[in-house]
Formats: sequence, structure tokens, C-alpha cells
Amino acid sequence: MMSRDLLVFLIFFITRGTGQMLGVKGETKDYYIVFLHSMQLSVNQESKATAHLTILSTLKGSELDAKKSHVYSYTNSFNAFAAKLSKSEAKKLSGMDGVQSVILNKYHRLHTTRSWDFIGLPQTTARRKKHESDIILGTLAFTYWPAGITPQSESFNDDGFGPPPAKWKGSCHHSANFSGCNNKLIGAKYFKLDGNPDPNDILSPVDTDGHGTHTSSTAAGSQVHNAQLFGLAKGTARGGVPSARVAMYKVCWSSSGCSDMDLLAGFDAAIHDGVDIISISIGGVTGSYTSDTISVGSFHAMNRGILTVASAGNDGPSLGSVVNHAPWLLTVAASGIDRGFQSRLVLGNGKTINGIGINGFQLKQKLYPITNGDDVAKNPRSKESAGFCLENTLDPNKVKGKLVKCKLETWGSDSVVKGLGGIGTIIESDMFLDTAQIFMAPATLVNSSVGQTITKYINSTRSPSAVIYKSQQVKLSAPFIATFSSRGPNPGTKHVLKPDIAAPGIDILASYTPLQTLTGLKGDTQYSNFTIMSGTSMACPHVAGAAAYVKSFHPNWSPAAIKSAIMTSARPMSSRVDQYAELAYGVGQLNPRGAVSPGLIYDMDSMSYVQFLCHEGYDGSSIASLVGSKSKIDCASLLPPLVSEDSINYPTMQLTLKNKKEITRGTFRRSVTNVGQAISTYNATIRAPKGVNITVEPMTISFLDTSQRSSFKVTVSAKNNDITKLLVSGSLIWRSFHHVVRSPIVILNPQYA
Ligand SMILES: *[C@@H]1O[C@H](CO)[C@@H](O)[C@H](O)[C@H]1NC(C)=O
Ligand SMILES: *[C@@H]1O[C@H](CO)[C@@H](O)[C@H](O)[C@H]1NC(C)=O
Ligand SMILES: *[C@@H]1O[C@H](CO)[C@@H](O)[C@H](O)[C@H]1NC(C)=O
Ligand SMILES: *[C@@H]1O[C@H](CO)[C@@H](O)[C@H](O)[C@H]1NC(C)=O
Ligand SMILES: *[C@@H]1O[C@H](CO)[C@@H](O)[C@H](O)[C@H]1NC(C)=O
Ligand SMILES: *[C@@H]1O[C@H](CO)[C@@H](O)[C@H](O)[C@H]1NC(C)=O
Repeated sequence: MMSRDLLVFLIFFITRGTGQMLGVKGETKDYYIVFLHSMQLSVNQESKATAHLTILSTLKGSELDAKKSHVYSYTNSFNAFAAKLSKSEAKKLSGMDGVQSVILNKYHRLHTTRSWDFIGLPQTTARRKKHESDIILGTLAFTYWPAGITPQSESFNDDGFGPPPAKWKGSCHHSANFSGCNNKLIGAKYFKLDGNPDPNDILSPVDTDGHGTHTSSTAAGSQVHNAQLFGLAKGTARGGVPSARVAMYKVCWSSSGCSDMDLLAGFDAAIHDGVDIISISIGGVTGSYTSDTISVGSFHAMNRGILTVASAGNDGPSLGSVVNHAPWLLTVAASGIDRGFQSRLVLGNGKTINGIGINGFQLKQKLYPITNGDDVAKNPRSKESAGFCLENTLDPNKVKGKLVKCKLETWGSDSVVKGLGGIGTIIESDMFLDTAQIFMAPATLVNSSVGQTITKYINSTRSPSAVIYKSQQVKLSAPFIATFSSRGPNPGTKHVLKPDIAAPGIDILASYTPLQTLTGLKGDTQYSNFTIMSGTSMACPHVAGAAAYVKSFHPNWSPAAIKSAIMTSARPMSSRVDQYAELAYGVGQLNPRGAVSPGLIYDMDSMSYVQFLCHEGYDGSSIASLVGSKSKIDCASLLPPLVSEDSINYPTMQLTLKNKKEITRGTFRRSVTNVGQAISTYNATIRAPKGVNITVEPMTISFLDTSQRSSFKVTVSAKNNDITKLLVSGSLIWRSFHHVVRSPIVILNPQYA
């Protein structure tokens, strides 16, 4: 049976704090999510919800108090509810019959067209249009800024689309400022369970920020000709799977961010509604795999055959900054494409400098006076903050009619200078040099050495002058990994390499909302149907689109199979691309077309992940709460008899060296399923870095049929003293006459972390 439609859900998050309120007796109350032992599938939603109230009544001693405390019942994919409780009540509840775990609700924070050609999925690609249109891409949009979607966007135009596939059980919230769905955008919901919106929030799935519209159109937008921003990045905009359907679950809000209970409600609804792929662009901290809501929600999605693709985070290049690193998630880093945006700055002495950024303004005069921010301070005390052109630090009389050079502290100095009658801004920074920021007035970004050159020039003459030109598109050497893209090592387990893969996430053109100016800054009057954004949030929907593309060819593949196909077919990158190598880009650059025919797949079901968690030392009862099993998981009986370094059939391998003189040896047991030609033989090629021994047994594997499995073991050994940096890497490649199946092997020496 073919899956009928893929839905994509994007989730974006920004902050995690704790929303607190005072209870009647002045005792602090928080929101908690209470997971219960799973009930039989036959138990209907209504009786689940009734059971939730009964538990609360027992706790509270009255039905009325139970109703007051109850916030929401998750009844589709989980057996859980959200409630307002005191700490002592939460503790008491966690010991009650039928209660599996009680988790404090936290608030998460936000991570923030040519790109499809760059990674090799041109418009002319062979497509299974019929099957593609059966795919539903679910986007749980969790951003610090509200996510949501723009239904009237041309990217969600439903020309040529039939009604949603029969399996679709979702719906569209009709509400304020939201025109409703169509046959392309087939679902849109929002969740704000604390009932406490900010004045800027619109309680509807509408996108007031642009992030959700941008990411979902990147994953699955319909084709739109002549897309551009200020004439830049001109071309046909389209998602990875233009024929797929889209559903949006908005769970993030302007000041509160995205809370766990809303996020879980998004997952619960998306899984129930029948999405095929979930895309989550989220920042934030991750807890343990059995209590983090994204981890728990995506585990349940995986259990129902839905792959969740998530962004790695924008906290790079710090090591260990990767988030969303559960092994059932496909974790995406951001790479750069071969296109950048620069604006020329010409000084009065004729010197030309190339600044970075998107400046849509054409200045009229040949030259304007230029000054340093700290030279036009409002008063001597504000000289330092004036250097950053912060609000209320500059003297308007000295700014008027001039270009002002400001050091970067927060974005928005272009707005401050413009607000005081200035002409434009030169922003000096040694960060964000690989992404093009959009400005609300003439501006450009330069590094500090260029900044010094400009200051020297300003000091050297009595009437310094300069001009900034409109931005132009330039060719860059690519690929590279974005500085901001979060890096490994995986903070959740030393056994799984994260991020998994890299995809374009710098200067991506996609659809935008009419409800927000391009910059959102005070005084901005620029609106556009398309905009350019950067972030792992932008990389994530590229991989979600690719996953949907693979699923349109292989509707019955498991989430792990789709993930394996995408990972083993990626284009290799080398440490020349990024000094942190695999810790920055995982397997390398996404290659969607190769992912359709991977030859072999590293498949897994939920029990494989349970074994992994046992091996990691999670206790049986916390695993039971993740899985939703009534009885404790008996890890002793589940661990495989043969020793394996990581106890997981992952498409990459990571050995973390022990801090001692002897040799560290790791045996990785793997099994591959033949999804290529029935009769086929694969030979192993091993590339081992200096100082590391890698062997594979057997070196040749043969198949007589499709779906046949074959096992092998990889042994990796190295001596701590021989590995004098954090990471060295090699690979195992299985090669047949038709396929190349590549797995990076990473050796980490934590001494250098
Ligand atoms: C922007 O999109 C709206 C809605 O799809 C459309 O009516 C309008 O013509 C578009 N504007 C431009 C400049 O293309
Ligand atoms: C939302 O709709 C209300 C009522 O129609 C209207 O007053 C408001 O301006 C709209 N908000 C936006 C951001 O369009
Ligand atoms: C600063 O930018 C200039 C001009 O783009 C470039 O030539 C120079 O190498 C950069 N310097 C540093 C330290 O990055
Ligand atoms: C420019 O002049 C200012 C004083 O007006 C001085 O503080 C600064 O060091 C000079 N900078 C350079 C690069 O010459
Ligand atoms: C690697 O293999 C060589 C040859 O068998 C052996 O001498 C050496 O000790 C091995 N090194 C490690 C780190 O296993
Ligand atoms: C695998 O190795 C065998 C023996 O060396 C060789 O005959 C065969 O052609 C190889 N197959 C591939 C796909 O390279």
C-alpha cells in the first residue's frame, strides 16, 4: 500500500525558560506534562481524557480543582496530559498508580533558490509526481518569533493539485487573519496552551514573522517563476518536492517562545493527522533522550513510520554545541552555496572595499561625509556605546546627512542611524562574515581589519567621505560550513556522530510573509514576497524535502531506511572544507538524487533504539516512559549477546578513545539490507587515518535477492598517544558495480576537546 501524501511540519524554537505563576496560597505553580502508562489502543480519546481528570481528582481531592488544574490531554499518539501543579503536587503525582513520568514544562528558544540546483536536484529531475503529491510534509514551526504560515503565498498555490490524499485526517484552524487552507497547504493548526499570548501574537496559524513560510516553502513550495529580492537571487523558487502537500503546526510565540506542552501537542496532532515527514528547525537545550520533548515526540513519530528532520542549531563554531542529537533524528548542519551578496564601499580617497550584506538602496550622491560612531557621541560618557551606535547614544546633529561606522553589538544600528537622519551605516564585525544580513537603510558589513583601514582614512583627512553601492551577487568558492552551524561532539552520547549531514543554509531565497517588513526593525518600510535567510533552520527543510523525495519513490521504507539512504549517498567533504570535519558536516553534503537508489540501507526499528538506550545505561523504567510501555523494559534480556561498541545499526561510526596509554579497540556490528539489484556483490574499501587500524569482516558481501540482510563487523583501534588532535576520520565504503555506500568512521580523542 502506497502512502498517500507526505506532510511536512517545521518546528522552530528559541528560548527555554520557565513560565511560573502563583497558586491560591501563594505557592508557585508550574505547567507539567504527565505521561501515563499506555492504554490499549482500543481506548478512545474521550475515555483517555476522562482518565486524566480522574487521576487529577485523586490528587486534588475534588473534581472541580482537577478541572481547574487540567490544561490539555494528549490523546492521539501519546497518553499524557498537561496540568498546572505545585512542585509538591508534581512529586506526589509521579508516585501515583498509572503515572509513568512527570516533566516540568520549559520554554525553548529560536534557531534561526538556487540551493536545490547546487546540491543536484535541478528542475528537470525525474520525479514521481503522482507519488510526490501523496506526500505530506509536516512542519512544526517553533521559533522564538512566532512561526506559522502564509496561505496566500504563491509557494502554496494549489494549481493542479487534487484533493488531499484519503489518509489525511488533519484540518485547518480558521481564525483571525488566516484565510484558510487549499489543496497544497492542507493543514494548519496552532497551540498556545498556557493561554497567555503576547499582544503581538495573533492566535491563528498565520505567520507574522516569515520563518515558517520560508522554511516550509523551502521544503515543499510550489514553483514560482521570477522569484527575487531586490533583483538578487533571481530565478524559479521551489521546494525540494514541489508536488508534496504541506501542513503547519504553529507552537512558537513572540515573547514566550515555544513551550514543551505546545510542542508535544504539535507532535501529537501531526502524527495523528497523517504527515509523512516532520521538519523541526529548533534551537535550545536538549535533555535526556527519555525526557526531552523533541526527543520523545520524534520517537513516537518514528514508531509510526514518520522521520523527523531537525536543525543542528546555530551555536557554532563552539564544539559540543549540536542540539537535537537523538539517534532517531536526522540532524542537519548548514553549508554555504556558491553565491554571496556584497556591496561596494568606496572611500573619498578612491579606495574600494567589498562589504557583505543585502543593501537594496541606490544612493544618489557620489559621496557623503563619513564618521565613526564614537566621534559623534551624544556626550563623552556615551562614547563607548556610541561606538556600537546603540539607541540614545549618538548626537542627531552630528549624524544627520552622514555615513556612520559602528561596531556590531546588536543588529539594528542601520535603524538607529537612519532614525537620526543619517544616510547609512558601515558595520564592523568579525562574526557573521559568511551570511548576508538584510539592511533597512544603506549599509554594509566589513571585518575589523577593513574597519581599521576606514578609521585610519577618517582620521587622515579633514572631510572624510564615502558611498555605499547597492548589493550585487558574487560567486563564492563552495561548499563550506557556516560558522554559526553547531558542531559536535554529540553531548548526548559518545557513540553517535552528530550532526548527521550538511545542507544549504546560508543566504537562502524563499517565500516570506506580507505581515512583516524584511528586517522587522523600527522604520523599515521594505516588504517582499521573497526573502533571504540563513540558519540551520534553512538547511533543515532541504533535508526534509529530500526525505519526502525519497519517500515518494519508496513509500514503505522505514524512517531509519530513508535516513540511511540520505546519509550514505551524501557527497563527501574533507577537512579542507572545515577544520572540525565530520563534527561540522557529518557525512557531508546532501545529495537527494543519490538517496533514491542507495543500494544498501542500515535499517532499524524502535526496538533497535531501545537496545541502544539500554547500552547507554538508561534505566528500564525511563525507557518504558519513552516507549509508552506499561511494564519496565528489561535491559538485561534485550542487550545483544555479541559485544558491540555502540549497539546501534547507525550509518556512521564513532569511537571515542579512552584516556589511557593502552590501545582503545571498538567493534561495530552492522547489518545492511539490499535495496538495489537482487543479485549483487559489494566489496569493502577502508580508508584509515594515520595511527588507526580499521578492519572489516567479511570484506565481501553478496545478495541473491532484494530485502536480504547481511551482517559484518568493523574493528577500529588506536592509541591515545598516537592521535594528537580531537578528531581523525576514515571511512568504510561498500562498492558494487552500481552503488557506492559510504560510512564515515570518526575517532575522537577527548583530551583535545
Ligand atoms: C505577492 O504575493 C501576493 C499574494 O500571492 C500577490 O498578490 C502579489 O502580486 C505578489 N507581489 C509581487 C510583487 O509579486
Ligand atoms: C488581524 O485581523 C484584525 C481583525 O480583522 C485586524 O484588525 C488586524 O489588523 C489584523 N492584523 C494583521 C497583522 O493583519
Ligand atoms: C577582511 O576583509 C577583506 C576584504 O574582504 C579581506 O581581503 C581580508 O582578508 C579580511 N581579513 C580578515 C582578517 O578576514
Ligand atoms: C583615530 O583618531 C582617534 C581620535 O580621534 C584615535 O582615538 C584613534 O586611535 C585613531 N585611530 C586610528 C586607526 O588611527
Ligand atoms: C595496527 O596494526 C599493526 C599491524 O598489525 C600493529 O602492529 C599495531 O599495533 C596496530 N595498532 C593499533 C593501534 O591497533
Ligand atoms: C570485488 O572483488 C572481486 C575480487 O577481487 C572482483 O572480482 C570484483 O570485480 C569486485 N567487485 C567490484 C564491484 O568491484
